[in-house]
Amino acid sequence: MAAPSLKKIAYHTLQQGKTLAGLAHKELSTKLMEVFAPGATPGNFPINQDLIKEVRRSMENLENIDWREAEAGVYPKSQLFEAPWLEWAKKYPLVWLDMPQTWQRRKKNKTREIPKIVNEEDYPEYYLQNFHHQTDGYLSDHSAEIYDLQVEILFNGTADSMRRRVLSPLKRGLKKYLYKGSKKIKVLDIATGTGRTLQQIQSALPQVELYGLDLSGSYLKQASKYLSSRSGDLVQLTKGNAEKMPYASASFQALTCVFLFHELPRDARQNVLNECFRLLEPGGILVLADSIQIEDSPKFTPIMENFHKIFHEPYYRDYIVDNINLRLEKSGFSSITSESHFMTKVWKANKPV
Ligand SMILES: C[S@@+](CC[C@H](N)C(=O)[O-])C[C@H]1O[C@@H](n2cnc3c(N)ncnc32)[C@H](O)[C@@H]1O
Repeated sequence: MAAPSLKKIAYHTLQQGKTLAGLAHKELSTKLMEVFAPGATPGNFPINQDLIKEVRRSMENLENIDWREAEAGVYPKSQLFEAPWLEWAKKYPLVWLDMPQTWQRRKKNKTREIPKIVNEEDYPEYYLQNFHHQTDGYLSDHSAEIYDLQVEILFNGTADSMRRRVLSPLKRGLKKYLYKGSKKIKVLDIATGTGRTLQQIQSALPQVELYGLDLSGSYLKQASKYLSSRSGDLVQLTKGNAEKMPYASASFQALTCVFLFHELPRDARQNVLNECFRLLEPGGILVLADSIQIEDSPKFTPIMENFHKIFHEPYYRDYIVDNINLRLEKSGFSSITSESHFMTKVWKANKPV
């Protein structure tokens, strides 16, 4: 077997470093929470040694596929090192400063503390909550500023590797359009948040015209800042509800949607899929990524249950048992496949020609 290249060693070291930093942060913050907000500590499901081994194996598999797909040219290797370190270092103290408020919200079970200036009529009722107990929900610049770092910590540095799993099915699905090379290929990332998936698509498919949609103006501002600091064409960002998107029917060749569905009630999940079907041209492809589900990852059930217990995620429990395949079929999609990578499940579905 050939020795691993320096770049692979660097990537492995980076991932290990991120994992250790994430674990250390969580260990310390849990200890502090126990001291300063004792009632906020939830009674977790125990994670036994076998499960810890399984988690390690699963993270290793994720790292391996991430490396292999970069080597195969699905995306540039530079993506593996894509992180605004300086900015994150500046924001890390903000994450700590925000924590006492989060603990209090958790302790007092306050889950609807949304900024007063928000006009509640502009949003669906299910959106006006402090998902993850985060300050202001998705509705402030402060929340948007620290979101990426919070997610990196939550997933021990694997968030971007999990998001990247949409790129291979997306590229395969777009192959027929790429060969034709005639008209411009349009791809929309739904619930784009701070734009990390858009940046990944841009680096893997620089020739496509990119669009991003989200309900949060603050998160879109953050996405705009992030994307304009990277190379690539202008991305068109729009504020809107994924249940009723402001685009013409059949106007996209591909859609992606990452980490939205677990934060939606059932009806909204179906509405979004119906909208996705409407927006795609016949032959177009949808790539969906979200949390793993109990059916295909039963060993990870205690982790999923703990996620639901620790963080305010009101629709997660329903999501992990929801039959998304059936929902995709109900909307009209065909050729549906799915695969799981660490904590993320990725679906690919086609709009029939
Ligand atoms: C967990 S975050 C995921 C963001 C991003 N895709 C990522 O990978 O980090 C969920 C995002 O969905 C957005 N969102 C929630 N409900 C929405 C809806 N009905 N329509 C559009 N965006 C929505 C939120 O504003 C937030 O940015």
